[in-house]
Amino acid sequence: MADERKTAIVTGASRGIGLAIAKRLAKSGYNIAIVDACPLENSKNAEDEVKALGVDAKAYQCNVADFAAVEQTVKQINDDFGGIYILVNNAGITRDGLLLKMTEENFDAVISVNLKGTFNFIKHTTPFMMKKKEGRVVSISSIVGIEGQAGQVNYSASKAGIIGITKSCAREYASRNITFNAIAPGFVKTPMTDALTDKQKEAIFELIPLKRYGEPEDIANVVNFLCSDDASYITGQVLSVDGGMHM
Ligand code: NAI
Repeated sequence: MADERKTAIVTGASRGIGLAIAKRLAKSGYNIAIVDACPLENSKNAEDEVKALGVDAKAYQCNVADFAAVEQTVKQINDDFGGIYILVNNAGITRDGLLLKMTEENFDAVISVNLKGTFNFIKHTTPFMMKKKEGRVVSISSIVGIEGQAGQVNYSASKAGIIGITKSCAREYASRNITFNAIAPGFVKTPMTDALTDKQKEAIFELIPLKRYGEPEDIANVVNFLCSDDASYITGQVLSVDGGMHM
């Protein structure tokens, strides 16, 4: 499978923002490793859609929260594609509820997937990036990682943690020519936000100065920019992509 194209790993890429990122990076000519916890047959459509853009793509079933499974999957991706240039930490979950009612299980689940999953993938991909003396890591945080949100103590903590990892790694790996940036989306139309009630969606809409909800492509375009040569002098940054919600 290995060819001259560079490879991008996108976690949580079988749908939503992750799939849009995978397709946008494919349009820029990167081969794509689609990582998702869902069964492989559920990632098949994503794999086909990416391949239709003229690059190599392969789906891998992997729970980002599982340190050993991530190590194994990353090794397999490197073997299959002959290198790893880009990592996009996109996989994420919510388990919303006020702190008063939040269970330990729901706190741990969100931290394990969103925050530890990001650590796991950075930990296991950076050795391959260092070998090639270049790399790009973009992690998907959230506006609530910056501002906090009632009912999302677990989620906002995980997304704030991603900003901490991003800035610390940017400093640690700058001399290795690996950049680390985060994107903080506002409200993006995906299966994740479909779960909100109409009332919740309307309340959020009122807070968006640009007066439209975000599309997955709005996020994917910025990931693509941060992975491009034009962004080679940007590291340790958090870019808000939210229609002006956070200023
Ligand atoms: P989504 O729920 O539509 O897609 C998430 C994907 O991650 C799914 O394919 C799911 O199977 C996968 N996933 C979940 N747990 C996993 C695990 N343990 N291991 C591997 N894959 C796993 O969500 P959406 O909206 O596309 O979100 C993508 C990212 O963007 C998430 O990190 C989310 O927190 C973040 N985000 C989304 C916003 C929105 O408004 N949709 C706003 C701010 C941030």
